[in-house]
Amino acid sequence: MMALVQRVVFTASNQVLRDCVKSVRQLERVSSRSLHHTATQHSNKTDRHIFRQLFDSRSSTYTYLLADSSTKEAIIIDPVLEQVDRDVSLIKDLQLNLIFAVNTHLHADHITGTGQIKKRLSGCKSVIAEATKAEADRHIVEGERIKFGGTHVQVVSTPGHTDGCMTYVWHDKSMAFTGDALLIRGCGRTDFQQGSPARLYESVHKKIFTLPDHYLLYPAHDYNGRTVTSVREEKRLNPRLTKTIEEFTKIMNELNLPPPKYINESVPANMVCGMYEVKDVTA
Ligand SMILES: [Fe+2]
Repeated sequence: MMALVQRVVFTASNQVLRDCVKSVRQLERVSSRSLHHTATQHSNKTDRHIFRQLFDSRSSTYTYLLADSSTKEAIIIDPVLEQVDRDVSLIKDLQLNLIFAVNTHLHADHITGTGQIKKRLSGCKSVIAEATKAEADRHIVEGERIKFGGTHVQVVSTPGHTDGCMTYVWHDKSMAFTGDALLIRGCGRTDFQQGSPARLYESVHKKIFTLPDHYLLYPAHDYNGRTVTSVREEKRLNPRLTKTIEEFTKIMNELNLPPPKYINESVPANMVCGMYEVKDVTA
């Protein structure tokens, strides 16, 4: 009897053990599948695009490098002449093929690096708004797309700081590059280069503040060490653009700012964007 009981217990224990091993193996298979799935999803999400924010301390200008990591096609937004060595090195380090050097507008505070970049990276074309009347390989208007690899930025016209100000919206990354139309807790001045407070107010409210609240906004400049904001943040906190259009116009008309330091050399140079024979400061 005792032997029978022992055999029953032994058989039952073996069965329990076999069931346990089976369950553990099933769990391992499921969790390995799900880990692999999660890792693949994660890697697809994080590796599809390349984004770099770069800074020029003399003019407090941000330059942005955007790329499709699978095709390696890239664009650069608002390159600065004095930083061309840095930008070209980074593009080469990342093995990117720069197809467009794009400006958000005709800058008055620095000379664009576009011309030098075009000399150094063959195949790169310059891009600027048609309204600037500046020279470039490609002139753009509202609604166009600047494609690179399997992605693109959408061209949104946001005049007011200048006539030819464009915001570039990268929907795949929920980001927008606002140039001087909208700065972090501020905006570009409106007292030269066809500036108009009313047009700027309308551009920001109708074109930028109508983007989804979570979209990140990357400006052309920041003078206080900040790097990024969002539509939600600026709609709530921008000290100028949360005001009425009348109040905003009054604020902008009473700024009494001195002219930008490098306006006399920057504007003529940037008018021939991409073709200007500037002194080779990067040599
Ligand atoms: Fe500007």
